[in-house]
Amino acid sequence: MKLAVLIALLGLANAWWCTGHMLVAHIAQQQLLQSHPAVYNFAQSILAPLNGDLTHNIANTFTETACWPDDIKSYGLQQIDPFHYIDKPYNPQGMTTAQIPLENVIYSITNFNETLTKPIEAPFEKSVALRFLIHFFGDIHQPLHCTTLFNDEFPNSDNGGNSFTIVYDDDVNELHALWDSAIGMLEDDLPRPLSDSNWEYMDQLAAWYTGNYTRNDLELELSYDNVTVWTLESYTLAVDYAYYGIQVGDRPSPQYVETARQIVMKQIALGGYRLADFLIEALTPMIQIEELFK
Ligand SMILES: *[C@@H]1O[C@H](CO)[C@@H](O)[C@H](O)[C@H]1NC(C)=O
Ligand SMILES: *[C@@H]1O[C@H](CO)[C@@H](O)[C@H](O)[C@H]1NC(C)=O
Ligand SMILES: *[C@@H]1O[C@H](CO)[C@@H](O)[C@H](O)[C@H]1NC(C)=O
Repeated sequence: MKLAVLIALLGLANAWWCTGHMLVAHIAQQQLLQSHPAVYNFAQSILAPLNGDLTHNIANTFTETACWPDDIKSYGLQQIDPFHYIDKPYNPQGMTTAQIPLENVIYSITNFNETLTKPIEAPFEKSVALRFLIHFFGDIHQPLHCTTLFNDEFPNSDNGGNSFTIVYDDDVNELHALWDSAIGMLEDDLPRPLSDSNWEYMDQLAAWYTGNYTRNDLELELSYDNVTVWTLESYTLAVDYAYYGIQVGDRPSPQYVETARQIVMKQIALGGYRLADFLIEALTPMIQIEELFK
């Protein structure tokens, strides 16, 4: 069997699936190209040293590298898995006193941000850090990356919905996967490097998502400039929408699907806007320093 096929078969998706991650990045890219093209170009230059064979030629652009932190899992590098999420217990029956593990996505974002912005020459480290940051800005906007349920059915937690079985389709049979697939809207993993038609598809998706949830619509959310607050926002959405109106073994109702799709669309747009804003803040001082030494 071809290695690539084997990897695809083994690939356990456990974050927005690749298309959702790319969409967050693609929205950020379009925002930057509109208002801060120098920041976008600088970000591309940070990615450049690891483009090519080292990243299997599937992560050579800002948009496509959004999936790289999951790609490395299928190539056997799994040590970083716990850093993709922060499982705040949702504990309606008072079943647990579990604490949130300290190795979590807030810790990762804080540290990779330090790596990225440190005033030193570190092309390899900064390229790695930026790739993770692009990905984690997606992850923290997935409600089930910020929540795990404890109740009498799941006294040891449902692992962020991964153990909460439901009926949806051939590829989605648990709650975490339902939300990772953007409630079935972004279920197809597009082959990378993206084809011209799939780039057009990404443009179309970005236009739809940002058309439905504009910066103006999200003005309040965009005023919260704090990663911890963002994860609490996701936690609240998980309690109010991911776990509400559904039981283990259910097929999600049409109302559940409709509401959840709106939440997903909003979260993906918000993730893209926040990623763009973060990069403007983090990279502008670096660009200014670079200019001084030209
Ligand atoms: C990243 O680091 C900068 C500089 O220390 C800081 O101003 C900014 O708030 C940090 N952003 C995040 C998301 O941690
Ligand atoms: C909202 O999204 C839908 C697809 O889900 C799309 O058909 C529609 O055009 C979008 N609205 C705007 C204003 O972009
Ligand atoms: C972010 O919000 C958390 C929770 O409200 C708070 O404890 C923390 O101090 C805030 N961090 C910053 C940098 O403002």
